[in-house]
Amino acid sequence: MFVDRLQLLNFRNYEELLIDFSPGKILIYGANGQGKTNLIEAIYYLVIGKSFRGKDNSLIRFGAESFQIGAKISKNGQKTTLGVEYSVKGKFFLKNGQKQKSFSSILGNLKGVLFTPDEPVIFFGFPANRRKALDLFLAQTSKTYLLNLIYYQKVLTNKNALLKQVWNVDNLIEAWNYKLAEFGAEIIKEREKCLKILNDIINELNAQLRFLPGKIEASYKTSGADDKEKIFELLKQKYTEEKDKKQALFGPHRDDLNFYVNGRDLKIFGSQGQKKGALLLFKLSQAVYMAKVSGEKPVVLLDDLYSEFDKEKREALEGFFLKYSDQVFITATEPIDLKNYHQVVFIENGKVS
Ligand SMILES: Nc1ncnc2c1ncn2[C@@H]1O[C@H](COP(=O)(O)OP(=O)(O)O)[C@@H](O)[C@H]1O
Ligand SMILES: [Mg+2]
Repeated sequence: MFVDRLQLLNFRNYEELLIDFSPGKILIYGANGQGKTNLIEAIYYLVIGKSFRGKDNSLIRFGAESFQIGAKISKNGQKTTLGVEYSVKGKFFLKNGQKQKSFSSILGNLKGVLFTPDEPVIFFGFPANRRKALDLFLAQTSKTYLLNLIYYQKVLTNKNALLKQVWNVDNLIEAWNYKLAEFGAEIIKEREKCLKILNDIINELNAQLRFLPGKIEASYKTSGADDKEKIFELLKQKYTEEKDKKQALFGPHRDDLNFYVNGRDLKIFGSQGQKKGALLLFKLSQAVYMAKVSGEKPVVLLDDLYSEFDKEKREALEGFFLKYSDQVFITATEPIDLKNYHQVVFIENGKVS
């Protein structure tokens, strides 16, 4: 799939923008602070239903009262329009002109993989960031996964509220634990299964791209178990501890994914370069997974990749992304290798030419 047309109204430093994109490799270039990342942010907004770097009200153009993002997506010759409108009064999504109840009903219509230079630090920081990255990817590829995640979150919120009560809630907790075990097991199973596949792809790609010398292992670490009954038992055992801390402490909302190179945990021992390389391979493996396993090639957004890698690595990486994606957006400050691109866009002060 690819973004055929993008339309912005009062989004960041774009007052009004209408731009048509071709499939293939697109270079977005311009000096710092002109709106390159803002454009990437707008496209990815329609992938995940929010900004990857700011709160909704910070996205409204200074002095305006609302913003709009609209896009026409092309998939096997079929066109779909997606949109979002936000003002302080609220936010709603549109698909083919129809107002949606929530973003989850249109998640997956535009599939995307994003890489930004700030991401390795965030990704290898708190476990919550790694879980979020995996969830955002899995939710795009599986509706069932998304629903399980939504149900799990709802039950978890209820359980956490109960754990803060002073009176006896033991029976109620048990009922919620049962539900948590049920949805939790599905979530854990899907995460484990997917990471196994991604891990194989990562190693295959690394053998070809030679980003990291050594064997990489991306693995899932659960605080529970992947079986409904076992999780339920575990939650029972840990109840006193949870009551003490007034918080649900076990289950997929506390799990982690680890990246090892030659058996060493990257978040502890990895250099900046290794982390960057591993994350790029992880992103690339997501595109491959989408293309091969879900049968839909995503849009790939590579922000400031040019400042990160030398020419040889860049070209190898772009080549791979293009193989598993219908459209790759690349931002840069300089107009280099122009003939390599299917489309070149120059951005200056929120205006495109
Ligand atoms: N809500 C907003 N309204 C108007 N301009 C904004 C808003 N948020 C950010 N900007 C402007 O956007 C510019 C940064 O754009 P960005 O896309 O990050 O730049 P770059 O081209 O370097 O990637 C800055 O000049 C900033 O002032
Ligand atoms: Mg930028």
